Amino acid sequence: MRLDKFLTECGIGSRREVKKILDSNRVKVNGIIVKNPQSNIKESIDKVELDSRILEYKEFRYYIMYKRAGYITATEDPKEKTVMELLPEWVIKKDLAPVGRLDKDTEGLLLFTNDGKLSHSLLSPKKHVDKTYYAKLENIINQEDIKKLESGVDIGGYITKPAQAKIISDKEIELTISEGKFHQVKKMLEAVNNKVIYLKRLSFGNLKLEGMELGEVKEISIEEILK
Ligand code: URA
Repeated sequence: MRLDKFLTECGIGSRREVKKILDSNRVKVNGIIVKNPQSNIKESIDKVELDSRILEYKEFRYYIMYKRAGYITATEDPKEKTVMELLPEWVIKKDLAPVGRLDKDTEGLLLFTNDGKLSHSLLSPKKHVDKTYYAKLENIINQEDIKKLESGVDIGGYITKPAQAKIISDKEIELTISEGKFHQVKKMLEAVNNKVIYLKRLSFGNLKLEGMELGEVKEISIEEILK
């Protein structure tokens, strides 16, 4: 593969930006500075370094984020701040997109990948990927509400599929749903005459938020998603 293509694919920048980087002696191949964008490398064998950081070519990349509130889940937006702005510099952003959506005011686990096929399959209603949310509520919740949430409630003409709900305290619950309708958790709580005042996603399939700090981003393997 051409060196400039390799660097672009690693998310270093556009071809023009990569040319500038090469011109400024920042790239080494097997320990030797290389300036020629057209030089050929064997991406699986050669050691390519940018500013002494080894670059690894991966066709598919997976990251999880502990999303903060205040950012919308989109790759770009003319007005709002997006979750892409929360990705640190070391994340390779090329073709990266969030899998599914958390509301602007929702915190918690958000998966990112450039693997469109996996993303599509995880979001498919047939796949039934469980998502667990922690919600703080405006009003007290009782066992009767929990039963309703579990067996299905009407959220504007749609009856939700069976879910699992657990009371944490009189105004806090954990809710596990296998669907991903727009504002689903908030609407489900509205259906039992309550209101979500804080929402956080604790898990997405096998992926768990536990042990992560607010705002943290981690690279993960596909095995961690599928295990
Ligand atoms: N349900 C909601 O209402 N909001 C979210 O962000 C996620 C699930």
